[in-house]
Amino acid sequence: MAPAIASLTNGAKRAAYSASQLARVVWFTGHYAYGRRVMGPLTDPGSAPYAEKFGPLDRDRLKTSFRELFRDDWKNIATGVYKFPGELRRPPSFSHLWRQSRDYLRDAEKVARRKHDHAHSEVLTETHREKYPRYFLQNFHYQTDGWLSDDSADRYDMQVETLFTGVAGPMRRQSLPFIRAALSGHDITQAKLLDLGSGTGTFLDTVKENWPALNVTALDLSPAYLNKTRASMGRWKNVDFVQANAEDTGLAGNAYDVVTAVYLFHELPPRARATVAAEIARLLKPGGTFILTDTIQFGDEPGFDILLENFPRGFHEPYYDSFCRTDLEALMGQYGLKRVNDKVAFLTKVIAFQKDGD
Ligand SMILES: C[S@@+](CC[C@H](N)C(=O)[O-])C[C@H]1O[C@@H](n2cnc3c(N)ncnc32)[C@H](O)[C@@H]1O
Repeated sequence: MAPAIASLTNGAKRAAYSASQLARVVWFTGHYAYGRRVMGPLTDPGSAPYAEKFGPLDRDRLKTSFRELFRDDWKNIATGVYKFPGELRRPPSFSHLWRQSRDYLRDAEKVARRKHDHAHSEVLTETHREKYPRYFLQNFHYQTDGWLSDDSADRYDMQVETLFTGVAGPMRRQSLPFIRAALSGHDITQAKLLDLGSGTGTFLDTVKENWPALNVTALDLSPAYLNKTRASMGRWKNVDFVQANAEDTGLAGNAYDVVTAVYLFHELPPRARATVAAEIARLLKPGGTFILTDTIQFGDEPGFDILLENFPRGFHEPYYDSFCRTDLEALMGQYGLKRVNDKVAFLTKVIAFQKDGD
């Protein structure tokens, strides 16, 4: 922990946490509101509104759940379950914020045009088809360049935090107590963690902040996202970078104490989800833990079901609905991974599965 934070009293730390997190919520909610306005209504002009199965949104529960996330996040920090997060400790420079904001706002217009035109396969080119599975070659969220450019990787964290109004960090961090439990009793210098679909490395960076000596591997199919991770994780030792499909990683089996996947599974079609689950079971050591962190599913927060129903209508998310209906316990169970614990954290759910021991 930076000396400035380490030397503060608990009350002062809490004030620093609240101020920093509040600033993030205000900043990203402002961008969210702008993005929503540019995107326009869910339905195309002149079309009938969607017939909604669920509803209405339970706004009181939404506010309470939002507050509960911060309460849990702070409690974990205050009790030493994880460290005061770097993203709250190191405020970004004004020039960084300015560039990030300008880029996001300019790109939002392109995203809105793509949504309007239903243009979600711009990256489905012949050259890309030779290298990547068909399902990967889409403009998820109508994002510019899909997963396949440096600009997309540079913009990703801003887009995710904006989508989640500044709480992607606290939601991802709810995976850390599960990692702590999985690593309990291990010699950290010998333990190995693999993060599938590691994106720009934001989650792995948080993992390394907490366990600097842990051997971690970032795996992603996108060379651009992996390069971004490589750049952002340069300060850490014992980090490997693997560009591969999570369905067939080419990595050694029975080798990892922990495998994580954060917001990957809802981007996969059902067939690929099953293949990745089988691959995770192969990669884990006997007794190892798979920690799945992803969107909540239908029924987890009944008052939010309408959000899950409408999300794939506003953003290009072709596999989201089927993910939200998947019996994950049954899916993982087919490959010998048993659910041992879970936690719903606002719009995210963390589930720990354990591979049978020897
Ligand atoms: C929604 S992002 C999640 C990124 C990161 N885990 C996070 O917490 O933000 C999904 C990531 O999964 C990667 N991805 C999608 N399909 C993949 C596959 N079959 N194998 C490996 N990576 C994949 C994408 O390139 C992207 O970086």
